[in-house]
Amino acid sequence: MKAQHQFDSQTLMEQARNILRQNDRGGYTVPTERLYPYQWNWDSAICALGWQSFDEARAWKEIRMLLKGQWSNGMLPHIVFHQDSPDYFPNADVWNVSEACFPHGVEHPPTSGISQPPVLATCVRKLWEAGKQTSTEKGEVKLICEKILNWHRWFWSARDPENTGLVRVLHPWESGMDNSPAWDEPLARVPSTQNASYVRQDTSLIDAHQRPLQKEYDRYLYLVEILRDKDYDSRAISQDFPFRVIDVGLNSILQRANLDLKAMLDQFGMRSECQELEARIELTQNAFTKLWDPQHEHFYNRDEFTGELIRVPTSACFLPLFAGLAGNEQVSKMVSTLENWMDQKFLLVPSTAPDEPSYEPERYWRGPVWPHINWMICEGLSDYGFDDLSRKIRMQTLELISKLGFYEYYHPLGESGLGGSSFSWTAAVCLIWGNSTNFR
Ligand code: DGY
Repeated sequence: MKAQHQFDSQTLMEQARNILRQNDRGGYTVPTERLYPYQWNWDSAICALGWQSFDEARAWKEIRMLLKGQWSNGMLPHIVFHQDSPDYFPNADVWNVSEACFPHGVEHPPTSGISQPPVLATCVRKLWEAGKQTSTEKGEVKLICEKILNWHRWFWSARDPENTGLVRVLHPWESGMDNSPAWDEPLARVPSTQNASYVRQDTSLIDAHQRPLQKEYDRYLYLVEILRDKDYDSRAISQDFPFRVIDVGLNSILQRANLDLKAMLDQFGMRSECQELEARIELTQNAFTKLWDPQHEHFYNRDEFTGELIRVPTSACFLPLFAGLAGNEQVSKMVSTLENWMDQKFLLVPSTAPDEPSYEPERYWRGPVWPHINWMICEGLSDYGFDDLSRKIRMQTLELISKLGFYEYYHPLGESGLGGSSFSWTAAVCLIWGNSTNFR
């Protein structure tokens, strides 16, 4: 007999729908007001799935708006600045992306100059296969897939010029997990910006102990400055670029996205593109074996500067589950780790292992639980047949949200909701789960 949940699912769903409506800026969804006043890449892909549960046409609009920011080299930026806001730093002026980056003669919004975890193809596949397909014609979906393929190709060439099968990130923001302790060592070799006059906005909106440290921001800004000086041209990035890491999370999400994209392109009869994807998928599958540490029984990120694995377990290290990248033995080790944390009364999945010295339960990516990461981990666990654990994580997360509200992230002991409130992807994850499982 399955335990009954402790929340009113209809109320939760209605609240979730209202948050997406409230954060709708006319075709795109801001993650939350003021703290993140633009369209963010992976947030939006997940929001589209939330919208799908009650407004399919609006879901496709989200995708179209995101793709308006695509560069001519295929890169899909991490932020699309559809309209100006005084509340966020660094804004479009700081990124200062040259007009030459965009397709010639096409109107476009300003964007940032780096990318973000490419969960879009997975979301588009879910939209396309589960949707009624009334609002979006097959022809348009095919075009969207072609654009996504160009983005993935950009990852392969710009972020993996040696064709190893694993792409690197050149900025912690590109990983989406900005201040993960996995980046501490590589970030320590990045100089601080010389710009002493810039003003962070996030800490005037959110308690500073829930956000990255100032010394980290100074380095984030330095990286923006050098990437900007090189016109974001990856060919100008040399071997001595200080921050080059293989992010196990982003690479897992990309592998899953390649699989989903291939399934769609197959339906459109695009044979040669499918073969191209198949080759990349196989290359990545083989390369992933190098990210597994048999001694510590974890997948780990790798520092490309030193060539060493970064032995800090984070929630990203479970994302290979989302892409079918783990062998059976690896899966059972990952499941035991999660069960062990649960036995110690931690809510799953803390963004940093709770026994790590760098674990901080309230600070951004250094400990808190993130609902959208849980969504991906739960998908992976179910794919591997661990339905019970997947259900437990799902129900724990929903109970957290119902008890504390729709926050950006949560204390792993369930003490508080943290970061931005009325948060769009948290609402979207509720709607995705409510849609597919009816909260069981
Ligand atoms: C931020 O501003 O905190 C974002 O994570 C950068 O994309």
